[in-house]
Amino acid sequence: MAKRFAVVLAAGQGTRMKSKLYKVLHPVMGRPMVQHVISQLKQIQIDEMVTIVGYGAEKVIEEIGNKSEFVIQEEQLGTGHAVQQAEALLSDEDGTTIVVCGDTPLITGKTYKELFEHHEREGSKATILTAKAPDPTGYGRVIRNEENQVERIVEHKDASHDELLVDEINTGTYCFDNKALFEALKEVSNDNAQGEYYLPDVIEILRKKSEKVSAFLTDDFEETIGINDRVVLAQAEKIMKRRINMGHMKNGVTIIDPDNTYIGPDVQIEQDVIIHPGSIISGKTTIGEDTEVGPHTEITDCVIGKSAIIKQSVLIGSNIGNEVIIGPYAYVRPETIISNNVKIGHFVELKKSTIGEESKIPHLSYIGDTEIGRNVNVGCGTITVNYDGKDKHKTKIEDDAFIGCNTNLIAPVSIGENAIIAAGSTINKNVPKDALSIARARQTNKEGYASRLKK
Ligand code: UD1
Ligand code: CA
Repeated sequence: MAKRFAVVLAAGQGTRMKSKLYKVLHPVMGRPMVQHVISQLKQIQIDEMVTIVGYGAEKVIEEIGNKSEFVIQEEQLGTGHAVQQAEALLSDEDGTTIVVCGDTPLITGKTYKELFEHHEREGSKATILTAKAPDPTGYGRVIRNEENQVERIVEHKDASHDELLVDEINTGTYCFDNKALFEALKEVSNDNAQGEYYLPDVIEILRKKSEKVSAFLTDDFEETIGINDRVVLAQAEKIMKRRINMGHMKNGVTIIDPDNTYIGPDVQIEQDVIIHPGSIISGKTTIGEDTEVGPHTEITDCVIGKSAIIKQSVLIGSNIGNEVIIGPYAYVRPETIISNNVKIGHFVELKKSTIGEESKIPHLSYIGDTEIGRNVNVGCGTITVNYDGKDKHKTKIEDDAFIGCNTNLIAPVSIGENAIIAAGSTINKNVPKDALSIARARQTNKEGYASRLKK
């Protein structure tokens, strides 16, 4: 098979986004759009990938990392000029080059593959991926002759009245004979409405040399939308969300309201998980079989076991065991490890803590920098006082301990195995194994005093 190359155009600023963030770094379902493009390209065999960077080059290179080579386009003089920057790397090669815009994140590897195959089958020098747009405004139009052959592409801003009526658009994705591409690029001028060197002009140049040019018309316009502003960004988000949710449902996940469920592209979910409305699951989260999530739950970068129940809660960067019950209204902050069969109730905040099997923190507690053993009961209103205003300190609660309600545990402190802390205690000394610790003022009852006061 001929060698395959890819050029990804990602140097533009994205003026129409009106943003500090460079366009191709804007996320779609939590992943920068250029990453979607590259990960779909990675699904087909590509021998060499070159990404053209310019605005925010450093950030874009950092984001993409070693998945591609990079060339800097110092000045953004147009898409044709952008591809030309890859000349030194690619122009001597024989093979096929796919050019893809960094702002079309919805095109799938399957479509790229079909485009390649069409191009190779037809033996063309150039093949444009085209689509019929319900509203072609802003896109380059594909102009065909009487024999229905592609003649050229005209940009919206350069199009005549009649040309604007054409609904077949250039998706900005093409396959080229590599050498023919770099030869033709030398002839591209910037004599047009935007004063830019347009890549699509290569089509007309090749046609004038009587080279074979073809179009591969996809019937899925939605997949090809180019994101130039935030209105289209929101549309892309919606399409991507639907696509991801559909995949999970087909794999045996119940999503009660897919329109109101947001699952990132790197999330893995096992069979028979149920996701209730308003849930946002993102990052590298995995969720085990039979777990129930939501409603209104946010989970980022967590590993969640089987048969857990997590309601109306926020979980970040944590590890949750099997059959754990969390919420409603719990906040599980990074580096927390919750073992199997634990119960975390409402208005409980956990941070950088380990909770042993079968333990319970059922209501209104803050547990930070703490190690809790097995079968510990943490009473309502317990606070680990982990911060002295300068440093953080650790609390340790050993197996089978019972912490009474409204206890303050002033760290560093440790509570021994099987110990009991009386409700309302403020503990600042270690409590030995099997001890009962009471640290509060004694109660005095003054008989008859209340009615005297009220007189
Ligand atoms: C481009 C096409 C248009 C097509 C549309 C599809 C041209 C001239 N027009 O228009 O026919 O219908 O895409 O979405 O190609 N870029 C660079 N360097 C530059 C200019 C652009 O790297 O000097 C990059 C941008 O970062 C972007 C991509 O090329 O990722 C496309 O540029 P953009 O300005 O968005 O082109 P469109 O106007 O959308
Ligand atoms: Ca665009």
